[in-house]
Amino acid sequence: MVSTPAASLQNSCQFLPEWTVEDPSPNQFLMPLTAAVNSQDHLTIGGCDVVDLVQQFGSPLYILDEQTLRTACRQYRDGFRHYYPGESLVIYASKAWNCLAVCAIAASEGLGIDIVSGGELYTALQAGVPSDRLYFHGNNKSRDELQQAVVANCTIVVDNWFELETLVAIAANTEAPVRIMLRLTPGIECHTHDYIRTGHIDSKFGFDPDQLDEVFTFVAQQPGLDCAGLHAHIGSQIFELNPHQDLTDVMAGWLDKAAQAGLPVRELDIGGGLGIRYTESDDPPSIHDWIQVICEGVVRACETRQLPLPKLIAEPGRSLIGSACVTAYTVGSQKVVPNLRTYVTVDGGMSDNPRPITYQSLYRAVAASQMSAPLTETVAIAGKHCESGDIIIQETTLPTTQPGDTLVILGTGAYNYSMASNYNRVPRPSAVLVQDGEASIILQRETYLDLIRQDRLPNRLAIASE
Ligand code: LLP
Repeated sequence: MVSTPAASLQNSCQFLPEWTVEDPSPNQFLMPLTAAVNSQDHLTIGGCDVVDLVQQFGSPLYILDEQTLRTACRQYRDGFRHYYPGESLVIYASKAWNCLAVCAIAASEGLGIDIVSGGELYTALQAGVPSDRLYFHGNNKSRDELQQAVVANCTIVVDNWFELETLVAIAANTEAPVRIMLRLTPGIECHTHDYIRTGHIDSKFGFDPDQLDEVFTFVAQQPGLDCAGLHAHIGSQIFELNPHQDLTDVMAGWLDKAAQAGLPVRELDIGGGLGIRYTESDDPPSIHDWIQVICEGVVRACETRQLPLPKLIAEPGRSLIGSACVTAYTVGSQKVVPNLRTYVTVDGGMSDNPRPITYQSLYRAVAASQMSAPLTETVAIAGKHCESGDIIIQETTLPTTQPGDTLVILGTGAYNYSMASNYNRVPRPSAVLVQDGEASIILQRETYLDLIRQDRLPNRLAIASE
């Protein structure tokens, strides 16, 4: 197959910025890093022709580029090693996309895994992730989930008093102390960033800043708990660096406070939140820039307070996997509303990507079989679900498309599969992992049998056949 570098893609992908192999920050690109166009004018990813992939595996199809995912993992891992003089660990926030293959890739790059449910814990363990690299988050873990986490020996990020008390009871029956971290609400007053202010006043997550002394003193008195560190997460899809810089100072203040309350902790987890480029107008900082700001902030804040450097943990999700995946759909019906809009409908929608209908998120699309064709039509890309709001892109330019054409939505790696549903009893799609011209199934397409697997029909409802 003949391919050209991603940077030379024309028309449909003219919005691709220049990138160099030495320093790509995947979150700054609309396409996976291996995207190219072959001699048939088809989009290729990981050396695989996207149109061929759809023929082979059907659609909708999540296409995950291994090289892009691994590049982002290494950028995070190596970035912390480069900018932080102390110990560091990057843990992948697997809520962005939790499945066996993705957990295995992240773990093979030396990352830990952030999990938020018994199901995510189970998946990570089945993928072979070492339990000392598992961090269990969540604001309402059940007693069963906590018990599983204790047995599995992962770190539990304690969110509230109820959980703390449940854990003290569980720890009464364990041989070794249970390893925990405490999630605290940062309460950063930062008037230019609404999400932080909202998080401070309204957040359902973490201990309230007013309660720090009480929490620290209580935890310090629990022989059954080994409190390793403190955690905060300020939000997601963030493009500014200031909030995280502010966070480092607030968190170093917590370290000081904890030590004074008799709870000397040794780890600081600053959460995730770095944004990615979904459309041309998005301009997120690079992974390296984000890391540099955080590392310098922590070092400075600890020096000022004469504190030893903690082990520094970050837990990115979206910026690790978001740009590594695209979703390929097949075009079906089209509806022209004269003088208003043309709807091009695809064979998926809010069941495989609920983000547009949930957050009014914006996406970019390309026609995979005619990458250099002129963009002659302005259309809406509609999903197939029975909701008027099931529109993947409200307005985009495309070449003329026909039923059967392959349309690709970019940047669907994060919070797409993980938030997918069976709405309208639509089976969830397959996902393939592509690399060096090979595609491996990592998620099998659901079948109709899968859809009724958990259904039960009481005898009295059985419809007698004549
Ligand atoms: N750590 C914690 C405690 C989190 O709650 C999250 C995301 C992360 C890390 C990872 O954040 P990221 O690096 O991915 O921004 N469904 C929404 C996003 C929800 C984010 C939830 N928490 C979306 O589709 O935009």
